[in-house]
Amino acid sequence: MSIAGKVCLITGAAGGLGSATARRLAADGARLVLMDIDADRLAALASELPVETVAHAGDVASEADVDAAVAAGVAEFGRIDLHHLNAGVPGPLTRLADLSVQDWDRVMGINLRGVFLGVRAAFRQYEAQARDGVSGGAIVLTASIASLRGSDDLLAYHASKHGVLGILKGAALYGGPIGVRVNAVAPGIVPTALFAGAGTAPGGGDDMARRAATTPLRRPGTGDEIASVVAFLLGDGAAYMTGEVVSVDGGAAAVSIVRPSGGAGAWDPRPGDVRMHPELA
Ligand SMILES: NC(=O)c1ccc[n+]([C@@H]2O[C@H](COP(=O)([O-])OP(=O)(O)OC[C@H]3O[C@@H](n4cnc5c(N)ncnc54)[C@H](O)[C@@H]3O)[C@@H](O)[C@H]2O)c1
Repeated sequence: MSIAGKVCLITGAAGGLGSATARRLAADGARLVLMDIDADRLAALASELPVETVAHAGDVASEADVDAAVAAGVAEFGRIDLHHLNAGVPGPLTRLADLSVQDWDRVMGINLRGVFLGVRAAFRQYEAQARDGVSGGAIVLTASIASLRGSDDLLAYHASKHGVLGILKGAALYGGPIGVRVNAVAPGIVPTALFAGAGTAPGGGDDMARRAATTPLRRPGTGDEIASVVAFLLGDGAAYMTGEVVSVDGGAAAVSIVRPSGGAGAWDPRPGDVRMHPELA
């Protein structure tokens, strides 16, 4: 109920998880400001939603684009109440020794600078709204199970998603005294276009269902299952939560990686891995 009538900005809105949040919040009666770098898919989503929507194509790594998206929302609706800062890219699945500086910078630019720019723009607008007598707000960041675990074939992604938790904590401290809550979801394995580029490689898009079968719930998640937690964190039901990261991962983060029962692909053996237990190799 607390979502109805609110204005929510969603980044990465044209993607699997962003579009699921958009549909969920639209069903709850929100008005939406949608941002994505893919203008065509963004326009297609906006045209199908049954609520007032501003679609703003832009790059979350660009200061000007992020500020322009907020300004476009404010021009249309007069304010922005809620933010789901969700855009992200995985970067290439590659050996640590082969990761290029260009790929590192691109992942950090979108996943980390993009979230910083989104949080900063959100707070600048919240502070302007507070001066006009409208206080409060809520932000949800899309973190990842990669915020909580390491991986040597996706180093920049994991480092960026760990960094998202640093932004989460600082932003929660900043927002608390002015009534702005900041929380994060940490999805596990949800088949979307995120890893489609890696195809059949271990950990690639075609491998997600197999990996998800090692999680406690033994299946991948859906966009709707992430979106329902995002909606909860944005809404008044989470009024006493801030600075929290909520795993939505079928139990993957609960699995002990020192047990051979695995979890989210933790124990996939590699050919020639001399340290792998013989039963697993
Ligand atoms: N799908 C999963 O299993 C999973 C798990 C954990 C975390 N996540 C995170 O969820 C978020 C959404 O991922 P998804 O699964 O929906 O993937 P997706 O590829 O379906 O969606 C990502 C969206 O972000 C957009 N985008 C990419 N770069 C952008 C940029 N520079 N500026 C603006 N938009 C940009 C893309 O166009 C796309 O629409 C990401 O942050 C991702 O890291 C996903």
